[in-house]
Formats: sequence, structure tokens, C-alpha cells
Amino acid sequence: MTPELQGKVAIVTGAAAMLGRAIVRAFVQAGAQVLAVDIDVPRGEALAAGLGARCRFVACDIASDAALDALVAGALGTEGRIDFLVNNAVVYGDAGLDAARADWLAALNVNLVSGAMLVQKTTEALAAQGGAIVNMGSVGGKFGAAGRALYPAAKAAILQLTRNQAASLAPRRVRVNSVSPGWTWSDALSRMTGDDRALADRVGAPMHPLGRVGDGDDVAQVVLFLCSDAARFVTGADIPVDGGFSMLGPDQGRSARDWFESQA
Ligand SMILES: NC(=O)c1ccc[n+]([C@@H]2O[C@H](COP(=O)([O-])OP(=O)(O)OC[C@H]3O[C@@H](n4cnc5c(N)ncnc54)[C@H](O)[C@@H]3O)[C@@H](O)[C@H]2O)c1
Repeated sequence: MTPELQGKVAIVTGAAAMLGRAIVRAFVQAGAQVLAVDIDVPRGEALAAGLGARCRFVACDIASDAALDALVAGALGTEGRIDFLVNNAVVYGDAGLDAARADWLAALNVNLVSGAMLVQKTTEALAAQGGAIVNMGSVGGKFGAAGRALYPAAKAAILQLTRNQAASLAPRRVRVNSVSPGWTWSDALSRMTGDDRALADRVGAPMHPLGRVGDGDDVAQVVLFLCSDAARFVTGADIPVDGGFSMLGPDQGRSARDWFESQA
């Protein structure tokens, strides 16, 4: 059942790409007014044009404090309130252990610090509504991966930061949770597969017991749930939206006997 968010206002960052668009669409369908935030102006404007009056695109670099101040002031000026914040924007560039200091700081700035700044700048408005924040985690923040460091370190930090934010803001009745997708059909997966969804599902199936990669809307519905009144007593939690990816160990859920028999 779609939650009823009529009259409520959501800010969604990283809104112009496939996953962000799915989140924006889900909030619009639930009746919310959405400020869709991104640096990608053509795709952001196309998104807003397709969704009508309930979605407004705001061109904003979340790494700029001045831009975040303008975003929050603009939201309060035009909408009069902010109920939900979804910190979804990301940069994937990651040279792993070879990354220079400047690369580390740039990646953490967008992937971790900017969301924290936006939480800080929206706290008053969210507290006035008993609002909710959802930070985007990832299975990438939970397991080792050769060749990567910047992205997974930021994602792991987000899961911890979510708990700190939740504890700090609970007295003000602002709930803070995270969502951790597995492989999700997105711009990145589309590029890697030559836009072949069946290939993505086939390669992803052994890692995702439900047998496919995720859809943006699989993630969006859980974000929506966490912002809805149905989740009114949920804070400081991480919800995996990964088709079972994170419940498996390296044995992929198969017993030793099963592995040995399959080698015989
Ligand atoms: N795609 C997946 O398989 C997957 C898996 C797990 C978690 N996630 C998480 O989901 C979220 C979305 O991922 P995605 O795959 O859609 O990423 P993406 O790279 O396709 O989209 C990210 C969006 O963020 C925007 N952005 C980047 N820097 C920005 C800035 N400084 N200011 C404003 N906007 C900025 C980009 O323009 C882009 O539209 C991320 O938090 C990611 O970690 C994705």
C-alpha cells in the first residue's frame, strides 16, 4: 500500500540518475512535493518535466555550503516546510589504495560530508515536522573488495553516522535510518552490461538469492516506508535491500558437503 504523504515535502539528492529518479517518482506517487537535487541539469530538468508540478528540480552542488544554504532557504521559501531528506548522491571514482589525498577528500566530501552538512542544515525544519532522514548505504560498505577504498569507506561511515545522527536527533523526534542496496539496475550497471538487463540479472543471480539484481523502485519503496508513518518507531536502523546478498557468507549459503559434492 502506498503511504499517504500529501502535503509533505521531500528533498532527494542525486535525483537525476536512475536510482534517484525512482526515489523521486515514489515520493511523487505518494503525494509528496519533491525537490529533486542534482548537478546534472539536463537530466534533472527532464525528470521534473516528466513528473509535473509535484517535482521541482533544483540544480545544486551538495559539496558547496552556499548551495546547500540556498537549497534549504529555497525549500522553506517556496514550500514552507521540509519533512524528509534522502541523502542519495554519490561519486564512484575510486583508485583504491593508490588514491591521492586529494581524491580521498573529494570522494568523502561528496559521499559522506555533504550529506552530513545537509542534515545539519535541515535539522530545524525536520524537527518542526517530526521528519525523517534516509541515508543511502550499500553492500559495498559491509564487505572487503579488492581495488576499492574510497567508496566503501564512505558507505561504511554512513552506516555508523546514521546511528550517531539517529541518537542525536531522537530527542527532537527526527528519525534517521539507512538503506543498503545490493547491485541495483542503474546507470553504472547499464553501462557495464551494454544496457543488457538480462545479463545483469544472470551475472548478479549467484550473489542475490532472490535471483536478480535490484530495481530502483525496490530501493525507493523501502526509502518511502522509512519516511512513512508506518515506520514511526524505527530509527538508527539499516535495511538491506539486496535480495539476500548480505545474508550470505563466502560459501554462498551452501554447506561444505554441497561444495565437495559439486567438485566430485
Ligand atoms: N547502483 C547500485 O548498484 C548501488 C548499489 C548500492 C548502493 N547504491 C547507492 O545508491 C545511490 C545512488 O547510486 P547510483 O548508482 O544511482 O549513482 P549514480 O552515479 O548513477 O548517480 C548519482 C547521482 O548523484 C549526482 N551527484 C554527484 N555528485 C553530486 C554533487 N556534488 N551534488 C549533487 N549531485 C551530485 C550525479 O549527478 C548523479 O545524478 C548512491 O548513494 C549509491 O551508493 C547504488
